[in-house]
Amino acid sequence: MKSLFSISSCIGVLWALLYIIPCNCDNDIFDNVNTGDSVIIGFEEDCALDPDFAPDLKNTVARAALQGFECQCHAVVTLDNYILRMHRIGSFKGPPILFLHGFLAASEQWLVRTRSEDLPSILADKGFDVWFGNFRGNTYGRNHTYLSPDLEDTKYEFWNFTLHELGYYDLPSMVDYVSKVTGRRTVSFVGYSVAVSVFLITMSTRPEYNDKINIAILLAPYSFVSEEQNVQAILNHLHIGERIQSYMHIEKPMEIFARKKSRIKFFNRNCKPRSINRFSCVRMMVICFGSGQVHHLNKDAVYRMLNAFMAGTSSKLIDHMLQMLDTGKLLKYKYNENDETEIYDLSGITVPMSVHSSVTDSIADPASIELLVQNLPEKSLIGRYLISDEGTRRDYFLSHNAKDVVFPDIIELLYRVKDNQEVISLNMNENDEVEVIAVDTLP
Ligand SMILES: *[C@@H]1O[C@H](CO)[C@@H](O)[C@H](O)[C@H]1NC(C)=O
Ligand SMILES: *[C@@H]1O[C@H](CO)[C@@H](O)[C@H](O)[C@H]1NC(C)=O
Repeated sequence: MKSLFSISSCIGVLWALLYIIPCNCDNDIFDNVNTGDSVIIGFEEDCALDPDFAPDLKNTVARAALQGFECQCHAVVTLDNYILRMHRIGSFKGPPILFLHGFLAASEQWLVRTRSEDLPSILADKGFDVWFGNFRGNTYGRNHTYLSPDLEDTKYEFWNFTLHELGYYDLPSMVDYVSKVTGRRTVSFVGYSVAVSVFLITMSTRPEYNDKINIAILLAPYSFVSEEQNVQAILNHLHIGERIQSYMHIEKPMEIFARKKSRIKFFNRNCKPRSINRFSCVRMMVICFGSGQVHHLNKDAVYRMLNAFMAGTSSKLIDHMLQMLDTGKLLKYKYNENDETEIYDLSGITVPMSVHSSVTDSIADPASIELLVQNLPEKSLIGRYLISDEGTRRDYFLSHNAKDVVFPDIIELLYRVKDNQEVISLNMNENDEVEVIAVDTLP
């Protein structure tokens, strides 16, 4: 019941933001923002054109600069001609790790705290080559070699994608690109929430990528949904099923939850560390990112995270996610209710995977995680990590103490690959298969 409340509140908040906050994009209050002193070594001359929102709330390039990192921008063209922006920080050397963002987010999501608190920054300082990907449709994935996301005659074709295309085209292209630029045969992968579903779809539909990823760290995976998370009930409860349906003309897929200056302005006004409404923002974040207590929250991070969030996607992808929620399974997109349900086959995955979840996460709840684990080939599962008690999915991004209680295990796993690129998948003994580690949060 608690989780039902959380999800419905969260969806409610999102819809409220979509409807209530008008888009007043002409009134561009951020024109004078200085992209300024960010250290940009662009591989793309338009790196500096990344949309910038507010002086203290920068885009990925500027956030990297705030942490003292150099940042490169790269453009990757997928097999079906979408153009995706990638960001790279650190010394641009060492074993490459590809980070992929969650639902409705973008690469900024990974840089919201300080250099010593964000996982990618910590890894960059430990000598890894850190890459951030972006999926088609978000702020950094709104381009294509011949389709425009905005023009009347091509936009429906542009927005015609689901999670399937993210898995079949985007992730493979980004992995190949990183591999090509770094000259490494394999890449490590860290995915958050829906990026885990995308990863599983890649491995299921492009099995050759099993040899190109040396380890997959699956954070707060959102791929299977337990019955406790009865989404139909939630949707009925809010009457948003019908509203969503009205949005989902299958013939006319469209952009949804796009980044809007007006929304950023709203967050700016209400969520800044010293604003009076800050408490509501923190509350909203807690609701959307699972329950649990708030005292380890980095409040600046809440504000930055909210802005990284709502970076846009396609209405058809949301429809696909609703089908996933409805059936509880990682299924192929169904055009008609009567179409046969086709489930992605995960039995052939050989990439060593570790699953990281938390007891109190009301979105990727323990029962849903259990379903995922049951669906993964046992021999590929190299670890199962559980944040106990107060921690939740937001700890990966928002808490001060994640660096002490959550990240050390992840770093250790990545070191195992770094130190012995090939051995990890061959040398597992029985006891390594499933490891449950309860991480106690600090007092
Ligand atoms: C989109 O890609 C085209 C190349 O096909 C490029 O010329 C253009 O500048 C890009 N637009 C944006 C906004 O990045
Ligand atoms: C979207 O893709 C589907 C399947 O590939 C196709 O049947 C449909 O015509 C496409 N719709 C648009 C608007 O491009």
